[in-house]
Amino acid sequence: MTEEIETSKRTSPPTDEKEDVAVPKKAKVDDKENNEPSSLSKTHAYGKLILFGEHFVVYKVPALVGAVAAYTDCSIEVVDVDESDDVKKDKGDESKTGNDTGIVEIIDNRPAVPNYKTKKAEEGKKAVDLVLNHFKIFGKVKLTFGGNLCCASGIGASAAQVVALARAVKQTLPQFATLTDDEINAAGYEGEKGYHGTPSGIDNTAATFGGLLKFQRTEGEPIFEKKKLKEPIRIVYASTGITSSTIEVVDDVRAKKEADPAWFDALLKKYCDIVSKGEKVLEDGNIKELGKLMDENHKILQDLTVSCDELDTLVVAAKKAGAIGAKMSGTGRGGLMLCIVGCEETQNAVADALEKIAPQVWKTSFQ
Ligand code: MEV
Repeated sequence: MTEEIETSKRTSPPTDEKEDVAVPKKAKVDDKENNEPSSLSKTHAYGKLILFGEHFVVYKVPALVGAVAAYTDCSIEVVDVDESDDVKKDKGDESKTGNDTGIVEIIDNRPAVPNYKTKKAEEGKKAVDLVLNHFKIFGKVKLTFGGNLCCASGIGASAAQVVALARAVKQTLPQFATLTDDEINAAGYEGEKGYHGTPSGIDNTAATFGGLLKFQRTEGEPIFEKKKLKEPIRIVYASTGITSSTIEVVDDVRAKKEADPAWFDALLKKYCDIVSKGEKVLEDGNIKELGKLMDENHKILQDLTVSCDELDTLVVAAKKAGAIGAKMSGTGRGGLMLCIVGCEETQNAVADALEKIAPQVWKTSFQ
C-alpha cells in the first residue's frame, strides 16, 4: 500500500459555504489524532493518484494508479430494517426499484476543499443509493462518513466514499459479513456510476485494494495487478481549488472522440506507448525517465483538452522548483496536479513553491 508521509496545506481560500474545509496543518503518518477506533478502520477506503491513464483508461487501455494512505471511512446505523420491502424486492415488486433506499440521514464529516461537497451533493446521494440498492438494503439507515482523505477533484474521493460504504455494509450487517474484496469493489463500481456515469473502475479498484496498480478495463471484469517498486517514489500533489464534473468531462471527451476518431486514435496511440514505457521504467526504478514520461502524458492531456490554465501553471511551477516530472491527475479541467521528486529536500522545495500558488498542497509517496 502507498503511505502518506506528511500533508502540508496552506490556508484554504475563504468560502461562504457551510461545509467542512481542509484545516491548514502539518500532519504525519501515525498521527495519534488521525487514528480511528478499530471498528471504523475496517471500512477504510483509499484515495488515489493516476500516474498514467486518466480518460484513456475509459477506452480499455492500461493505466497506472497509486492509492494514497489517506482514507474515507463510514459507519451505518440501521434505524429500521424494512423486512417487508426487502421481501417485496426479492419478489420483484416494481414499486421498490430505482432510488428507493431508506436513507434517513447522511452525516458527512469528510474534510473537503471549498465547494466540493455542495457541488457533489446530488451525485453523492445517487452514489450512496446505488450502493445500497446493489445490496438490496431498503431498511432505514443513517450513514456517517469521515476519515482523513481531503475531498478534492482528482483524488478519488467519490470512489473512497462508496467503497467505504460497501465496507461498512460488510462490517455492520451480519448477512454481508462474508463479502470479499472483489465484491466490495463491485459495489464500489456501482456507486461510482452516481458520480462518474460510466466509470472505468480504476478509482474504486485503487480505493479497495490500495497499493500501486496496473489497471485495465475490459468487456468483462477489469484486469489489475499490483506493481512492486524498487524504492518509494516521493510525490507532491496540489489542488487547483476547482471542482470539476467527471461525468461532464468524460462525456465531452467522448463527444470529441466521436467527432474526430482519427485525432483521438493518434492521441491514444501516443498514450499507449507512454504507459508501456512507464511500466517498464517504474519496474526498473528509473525515476528520471518516469518523470519525462509524465511530462509527455501531460502534453497529451493538454491536446485532449482536459488540462486547463490552472493545472498548467501548477505543472510549470512544480518543474521549475525541481520536480522530475509533473502532470494533471484525474478528471482535469480543475482538480489536481501530481509531480514526482527525487529527494526529501526537493519535495519540500516543490511543496513550498506550490503553496504560494495553490490552495492546497500535499506530500505523499508511492511505496
Ligand atoms: C477519474 O479519476 C478518471 C477518469 O479516467 C474517469 C474514469 O476512469 O472513470 C477521468
